[in-house]
Amino acid sequence: MIHLQICQGTTCYIMGAAQLASACLQLPADVRDKVRVTGCRCLGLCRDGAFGDAPYVKIDDEILARATLESVLAALRARTEETP
Ligand code: FES
Repeated sequence: MIHLQICQGTTCYIMGAAQLASACLQLPADVRDKVRVTGCRCLGLCRDGAFGDAPYVKIDDEILARATLESVLAALRARTEETP
């Protein structure tokens, strides 16, 4: 099972994580059954001027910056093809 964590810290939330979380709850069927979607507290990546790369998500141990539904879906599909 792949674990998708969507940062729900203030910066990410403002930069689109709220909409991303809603969209990710309706992942396509070929991906949905292999992914557990949760929110998480600030990943600590928005500091030191990196807030412009928000929203951040974490897919297992991989961080994805400037996450969009398209980029998250692409990353998940790449992993689901590896995951039986
Ligand atoms: S709010 Fe998302 S990394 Fe800080």
